[in-house]
Amino acid sequence: MGIYAKFAAFYDELMGDRSETIDQVRSYLAKHLPTATSLLELGCGTGALLAGFAGELALAGVDQSPEMLAIAAERVPGATLTQADMTEFSLGARYDVVICLFDTLNHLPRFDDWAEAFKRAHEHLVEGGLFIFDVNTIGRLRGLGRQQPYVEDFAGNYVIMNITPTDSDVFVWEVKIFERLGEDIFKLHHETILELGVPLAQIRAALEPYFDVLAEDDQDGHLVSDDADRIFFACRSRG
Ligand SMILES: C[S@@+](CC[C@H](N)C(=O)[O-])C[C@H]1O[C@@H](n2cnc3c(N)ncnc32)[C@H](O)[C@@H]1O
Repeated sequence: MGIYAKFAAFYDELMGDRSETIDQVRSYLAKHLPTATSLLELGCGTGALLAGFAGELALAGVDQSPEMLAIAAERVPGATLTQADMTEFSLGARYDVVICLFDTLNHLPRFDDWAEAFKRAHEHLVEGGLFIFDVNTIGRLRGLGRQQPYVEDFAGNYVIMNITPTDSDVFVWEVKIFERLGEDIFKLHHETILELGVPLAQIRAALEPYFDVLAEDDQDGHLVSDDADRIFFACRSRG
């Protein structure tokens, strides 16, 4: 069973409204490529972000999880969805915009694979197209690694998330979902997700051969640094 197999059914309820991220992408499009007509998402999950552009742009998504893609197919029936690893796929098409959001890149635990994903994004973009992605910073992951487990109830169920550091920059996210089946009866769904933290300078260096970085923004408007939370990058493909 691959990652997100058990998480998929609960993902949207847990992650909630995604309009802030959709608005962030919209603002980059308005500023840097208002003529865009097509968009590909790497790690599109349940299609929560693609759905925000339905009816406006021709949409495509790649994800390795069949469980997440099944939800996306229902939610965004017009999108072309492909089950694949975002570090090694070829759709034989180019798009105006490629996005990879909600710390999906961090899910690649080897930095060599980030460089491969950057190459795949570049290969699937038209010249001058936009690559928009975000990352959990290394500082944020270290901070989360020091915190107590996070507990939340949602729709009658409970989730416990715990982030543990390792002796490298890989962090282990344990997600335990207790699905309520009866008054005092719960079913446990346990998922382990790895996230790699990468210094921003290393990310910029890996982008350099393919992209001009147009913007780097902290999600909360704070200073862009390795100690910020989530950093968005907007990059122009050099063709
Ligand atoms: C945090 S979720 C984000 C989903 C979606 N982008 C969103 O914002 O809701 C990460 C997604 O990336 C997918 N993923 C992780 N590693 C992947 C890989 N190597 N290739 C393709 N998809 C991957 C997972 O299956 C999951 O759907």
